Amino acid sequence: MAKDKDRKTCGELFGECKEFLWNPRTHEFLGRTASSWGLILLFYLAFYIFLAGLFILTMYIMLQTLDDYKPTYQDRLATPGMMIRPHSDSLEIVYSVEKTESWDLYVQALNKFLAPYNDSHQAETNDNCVSNRYFIQEDSGEVRNNPKRSCQFNRTMLDECSGITDRYYGYRDRQPCILIKFNRVIGLLPGINGQSPYVSCAAKKEDSDKIGELVYFPPNGTFNLMYYPYYGKKAQVNYSQPLVAVKFMNITSNADINIECKINANNIGPGSERDKFAGRVSFKLRINTN
Ligand SMILES: *[C@@H]1O[C@H](CO)[C@@H](O)[C@H](O)[C@H]1NC(C)=O
Ligand SMILES: *[C@@H]1O[C@H](CO)[C@@H](O)[C@H](O)[C@H]1NC(C)=O
Ligand SMILES: *[C@@H]1O[C@H](CO)[C@@H](O)[C@H](O)[C@H]1NC(C)=O
Ligand SMILES: *[C@@H]1O[C@H](CO)[C@@H](O)[C@H](O)[C@H]1NC(C)=O
Ligand SMILES: *[C@@H]1O[C@H](CO)[C@@H](O)[C@H](O)[C@H]1NC(C)=O
Repeated sequence: MAKDKDRKTCGELFGECKEFLWNPRTHEFLGRTASSWGLILLFYLAFYIFLAGLFILTMYIMLQTLDDYKPTYQDRLATPGMMIRPHSDSLEIVYSVEKTESWDLYVQALNKFLAPYNDSHQAETNDNCVSNRYFIQEDSGEVRNNPKRSCQFNRTMLDECSGITDRYYGYRDRQPCILIKFNRVIGLLPGINGQSPYVSCAAKKEDSDKIGELVYFPPNGTFNLMYYPYYGKKAQVNYSQPLVAVKFMNITSNADINIECKINANNIGPGSERDKFAGRVSFKLRINTN
């Protein structure tokens, strides 16, 4: 008998469930009264508003510590890289003098790259600075000295490699020009014994008898001190990266010549083995002739 008492009928069970869902006697919904539910909802509402507020506050405080004009972290760029123009993915410049279409792409790439360096454009946007000294434009305390001016790098300073005196940059005459740029690093003051850092290029050992004479533009392959320091894209809106052009005067034809160019500056750490672009760039040059 006792056993039978414990066992509830299907109907009784359903009734209990229904009563749990909505109990008309106590006016409870899912076992709680309306005011109990209200309090719970109110609590969670307040709790989430508090969390959102905390998030916004933290975000706000963090953003206050960031500087629009300077990256907070730029550790990976301690030794900046160098790059050549024209360039392809493989850092190879290969062409045949006789096949115009094989070097025309390089000429076009250089034309495009150098367009913003046109003297007229530089005169419009940048200053004619004093050479051989850093162009320092510090902020005075909290007062921003922005926007900052930048120095002119005139296309004509590349002389025979400017594409103006020789619109084929020497490619047609088996004396190609290659431009070298040194990647921007905010605040860097490169130099060598107080003088401007300069670029020098040499062939890898086995090719050293094939590279021939090199001529640099501007003279001595310098990146003038006046282009440093760089203050960042936002502070120095019209900044023009200085360039060095190297012209190969008598390079051996029909041979792969492996060349390495590096920046000579005694206050830039030597590039680590891991980063092959640090302070240097290597490329292959091959000119085919019949
Ligand atoms: C820059 O100068 C070159 C040669 O003088 C000219 O062909 C080219 O159109 C100029 N480009 C711009 C953007 O002014
Ligand atoms: C650049 O060219 C402009 C226009 O010809 C000239 O006024 C200016 O002095 C040149 N600047 C430099 C640094 O050579
Ligand atoms: C940047 O160049 C523009 C002309 O294109 C000039 O009006 C402006 O003053 C220059 N800004 C700075 C900071 O040199
Ligand atoms: C190039 O370097 C040589 C030797 O270091 C120096 O005498 C000459 O003045 C330099 N030329 C320029 C234009 O800086
Ligand atoms: C060019 O280089 C070749 C050897 O590769 C040499 O025999 C020749 O004298 C050089 N010409 C000039 C003008 O330096």
